[in-house]
Amino acid sequence: MAFTIAIDGPAAAGKGTISKALAEHFGFAHLDTGLLYRAVGRRTLDGTPAHDAALALTAQDLEAGDLRTPEVAQAASKVAVIPEVRAALLDFQRAFARRDGGAVLDGRDIGTVICPEAEAKLFVIASAEVRAKRRFEELRSAGIETEYDAVLRDVHDRDARDMGRADSPLRPAEDAEELDTSELDIGEAVARAVAMVSKKI
Ligand code: C5P
Repeated sequence: MAFTIAIDGPAAAGKGTISKALAEHFGFAHLDTGLLYRAVGRRTLDGTPAHDAALALTAQDLEAGDLRTPEVAQAASKVAVIPEVRAALLDFQRAFARRDGGAVLDGRDIGTVICPEAEAKLFVIASAEVRAKRRFEELRSAGIETEYDAVLRDVHDRDARDMGRADSPLRPAEDAEELDTSELDIGEAVARAVAMVSKKI
């Protein structure tokens, strides 16, 4: 039986951690759809046209080690405004969402475009400052040198691009429940997400 949990929200709001924990809790498969856009964005940094990269995306591209860098994140949000790129990634995401055994997908347009019929939809948010601080600490512990102000600028840039684009902009689906993680630690955020989804199962 298919059951889809759609997790959307801006960069570094906690979607990834929450989605992994939900997948583990319910025994569902998990797809981080941001990785698809990051893999396409990364190929464009080598000079590959975005649409070609999206059409030819392989499992190997998704395993590249440097998909989490700020440079790749910016490249991802630039290719994500191109309708042909989004269209090329659509079928894979939809098939994943409706697989037997349940699926958690996290991204920007899962509840609105990829899987409007998802059984549970969460829109995860946190203030830009909290998100920048979390991302800054993540990058630092991964050994990536950066400054808080630069990370905050990146967060604002990506928010503006993700919310302002014409095709599949970041916005909550009408039937999504909001989860604000600004004041929550990881354990609290996960517990709330599990409770919200459990009501729908
Ligand atoms: O979630 P993550 O930060 O890895 O996503 C990288 C970029 O990919 C986002 O800033 C966004 O522009 C794009 N994206 C998207 N739609 C999704 C997932 C990610 O446009 N479903």
